[in-house]
Amino acid sequence: MRKTDLLITRRSALKAVGGAAATGLLVRAFPTPAIAQAAPLRIGFMLPYTGTYASLAKNIDGAFRQYVEEKGGKLGGRSLEYVMVDDQAEPSKATDNMNKLVDRDKVDVVVGTVHSGVQMAMVKIARESGKLMIIPNAGADDATRSACAPNIFRTSFSNWQPCFPVGKVMAEKGHKTAMTITWKYAAGEEDVRAFKEGFGAVGGSVIGELYVPFPEVEFQSFLTQIAEKKPDAVFAFFAGGGAVKFVKDYAAAGLKKSVPLYGPGFLTDGTLQAQGEAAEGLLTTLHYADDLDNPTDKKFREGFKKKFNADADVYAVQGYDSAALLGVGLEAVKGDMKAADAMYKAMGAAKIDSPRGPLSFSASHNPIQNIYLREVKNGKNTFVKIAHANLADPGTGCKMS
Ligand code: PHB
Repeated sequence: MRKTDLLITRRSALKAVGGAAATGLLVRAFPTPAIAQAAPLRIGFMLPYTGTYASLAKNIDGAFRQYVEEKGGKLGGRSLEYVMVDDQAEPSKATDNMNKLVDRDKVDVVVGTVHSGVQMAMVKIARESGKLMIIPNAGADDATRSACAPNIFRTSFSNWQPCFPVGKVMAEKGHKTAMTITWKYAAGEEDVRAFKEGFGAVGGSVIGELYVPFPEVEFQSFLTQIAEKKPDAVFAFFAGGGAVKFVKDYAAAGLKKSVPLYGPGFLTDGTLQAQGEAAEGLLTTLHYADDLDNPTDKKFREGFKKKFNADADVYAVQGYDSAALLGVGLEAVKGDMKAADAMYKAMGAAKIDSPRGPLSFSASHNPIQNIYLREVKNGKNTFVKIAHANLADPGTGCKMS
C-alpha cells in the first residue's frame, strides 16, 4: 500500500464510492452494512470431485446450484459465489483442505462432504472455527451425535438410518443368517453395526463380516468366501464406482440367485445405468426412490434432467436440500449471517418439502425422514413401501454447547 493511500480522508473516500457507484465500479472502501450485505455469499464446496465418489460430488454440487437458480440466483436476498475443493475422499488431506476453505478462501458456508472419514476432520474444524457447515452426504454417526454443534447441519442421513431397517426387510423374506461386506472405513463399519442391530432385533444372526480396503474393488476372494459359507442373504455397503463393480461382480459370480443381496440404497443409486441387468430385482432401503412422484420431486427431476441431461439420484436430492436448508436460514435473517443464532434456530426448525418427502431435523440437526424399501425394476429404484416412517437417528451423546 502506498503512503498516500493511508492519507485518504473519509470524505474523499465517500466521494470516490459515490463516483464509482455512478460509473458502475465496485469499490470496497468503508462498506456500509447495505453494501456488505449485498456482497455475494461465498459457498465452499468440499467434495470428492475425482475418484470412486466423483459422480456423487457432481450431483450434490449440480443440484445445489439448480435449487439456487430456481430461486432466481439468490437465497435470502443474497447472491452466491462458489469455491470448489476436491477432497478426493482422502482423510489424510481433509484438515488442510478444510483449512483452505475456512482460512484462505474465507467462505461463509462449507458444504461438504461425501466420505465419513473426511467428514470427521471437517467436523473438528467446524467446531473450532464456528463456521456453518452443511453435510450433504457423509453419514458419520458422530457428526450429529457426540460431535454435534449449533453450526453443523446434515441434510442426508446418519449411517445408522438407511441400514437399521434392512434387517427387518430380510427377516420378512425369511432370511435367518447373513454375511456382511463393505469397505473398511467409518461408513462401512457404522453401516454394518446398524444392520446387525436391526437384524439382531428380529432374531437374525450375522455369520461373517468381510472388509475390503477403501476404495479397492478387487472383490473375487471375498465372493468366494460368501459362496463357501452360504448365508441366507448378504448385506453390502458400497457406493459410486465401487457399487457399480460390486453389483456386477456379485451377479457374474453366480451369487445373485442363490444368496440374495441387500443393502442401503447407495448400492443401486446413481449406478443403475452402468449396472444394467446385474442390479435388476435388488431390494434396498433408502430415503429416496425414483418414482415417489410427489409434485416437488417431479419438478426437481424435470429441472435436473433439463440442466444435466441425466436422471437425478439421492445425492442430487441431498445437494438440492442443502441449498433449501441454507435458504431457510438466510430468509429468517434477511441474508445477514452475523445473526447466526437466529439463522441456526430457523434451520433447526425447518420443515422442508423435499423431493424425498417431508424432511425435518432432530435436536442434533440430523434429518428425520422416511426410509423407503425399493426394488430395481427396468433400471429404476422403484418404491415398494415405507420401510420405516419418520426415522430419526438415536442421536446419542449430543450436547449442543
Ligand atoms: C460415507 O462415507 O459416509 C458415505 C459415502 C457414500 C455413500 C454413503 C455414505 O453413498
